[in-house]
Amino acid sequence: MNVSLATVSDLNSEGWGVVRTEAGEVVFVPGAWPGDEIEFSILKRGKFNLGKLEKILKKSSAHRENICPSRDPQTQRCVACPWAGIHYKDQLEAKNKKIDFLINRFKFAPKIKNPILPSPEEFHYRNRVKLHREEKSLGYKDPVTLKFNPISECKVVEEWINLEIKKLSSSLDENSTQEIWIQKGQEGEFNQGNTRQNNQIKEILQKELNQKEKNQFLELFCGSGNFSEVLKNSSSKLLCYEGSQSSLQKIDDRKWSNVETFHLNLYSSSSLNQIAKMNQNTQQLFLDPPRSGFKELGHLTQKLPKLQKIFYLSCNPITFFRDVVPLSSEWTFEKLYSFDMFPQTPHIEVMGVFHRNEARQE
Ligand SMILES: C[S@@+](CC[C@H](N)C(=O)[O-])C[C@H]1O[C@@H](n2cnc3c(N)ncnc32)[C@H](O)[C@@H]1O
Repeated sequence: MNVSLATVSDLNSEGWGVVRTEAGEVVFVPGAWPGDEIEFSILKRGKFNLGKLEKILKKSSAHRENICPSRDPQTQRCVACPWAGIHYKDQLEAKNKKIDFLINRFKFAPKIKNPILPSPEEFHYRNRVKLHREEKSLGYKDPVTLKFNPISECKVVEEWINLEIKKLSSSLDENSTQEIWIQKGQEGEFNQGNTRQNNQIKEILQKELNQKEKNQFLELFCGSGNFSEVLKNSSSKLLCYEGSQSSLQKIDDRKWSNVETFHLNLYSSSSLNQIAKMNQNTQQLFLDPPRSGFKELGHLTQKLPKLQKIFYLSCNPITFFRDVVPLSSEWTFEKLYSFDMFPQTPHIEVMGVFHRNEARQE
C-alpha cells in the first residue's frame, strides 16, 4: 500500500477532505477535515480520486469525539453521518463557506445573505429513514463504496424510529426486503425529514409573504401541501402542481376553498406550456423541487408575464444556483436563507427570494 502525506486544504461537495498528491493529483478523503495533517492511500482512481484516511497525524481543532453508537470501529464513522466527529459550530461554518463559494462561482449574489439557521436539535431530529438489510442486520450503505454499516441504534433519528429498528432487527430473515423505509405516512410520498426545522422554514416563509395584497400564486412540486398550507393564506387563488397523485389527494382532502391541484410531470417537455396556459395572471411562484432542481425556471418566467416574485426552496444549492443564474438579467436576488436540515451531514437547504426588476411590456 502506497501511503502519502498531505495537509487537507478544503472540503468537496460531499463534505470530504481535499488533498493533493506530490504529483498534483486531487484526492477526496472522507473523514479528513481542513487543517488536518494526514496519511492517506488511494482507494480508487477515476472521474474523481477517492482516498482512504490512514491516520490523522495532526488534528484540526474542529474534531470531537464521535458519540454515534453504530460507528465503524475502524474508521470511527457511520456512513449516514460523515460529520458526527466534527463540532457543530464547525459544521455550520463549513456550510456557510460552501454557500459563499457558490455565490462567487455562479456570480449571482443576494442583496441579503442570512447565515445558516441551525437545526433546533443537533441529534434525534430525523423523522424518516431508509435502511438496508444484509442477512439479519439493518444498517446504512455508503452510496460511493457501497460498504454496509450495520447499526444497533442511530443518534440522529427520532426515538420512535430507534424502537422500530429494535423491533425490526429481532424479526429479520432472508425473506425480508433489502431496503426498508421507516416513516410516518405512505412510502413514495415526500415529507421534510426534520420536522422542527421544517416548521422554522414555514415561519420564515410566512413572514416573507405579503399578507395584505393577495393575488394568484403558483406552487410547483407541492407534495402533500406542506407549504401550500402557508401559501394559501397569501393567495387569492393557489395553483399547486405535483407528480405524486397520492400526495395531491391529501391536499384535495383538506378542501381548501382557494386551492386547485394539478397532477403533472413537471420535467415533461409539454409541462411549461400547460403551466403557462393556466398562469397568465399569476404574480408569485414558490417551488421546492427534488435534488435535480428545475432547469426550466428561466424559460418558465418568460412565459408568465405578471410574475413578480419567486421563492425557490432547494435541497441542493448547486442545482439551485444553476437554475437561478438565467434570472440574473431581469430579476433581483433579494435574499438568501440557508437552513441546516441534516446536522452531522454536509447537506444544506437554501431558499432564495427574487423580485422582477420592472413590469414587463405585454
Ligand atoms: C423536495 S419535495 C417537496 C415537496 C413539498 N414541497 C414538501 O415540502 O413536502 C419534491 C416533490 O417533487 C415531486 N416530484 C418529483 N419528481 C416530479 C416530477 N417529475 N413532476 C412533478 N413532481 C415531482 C415529489 O413527489 C415531491 O413531492
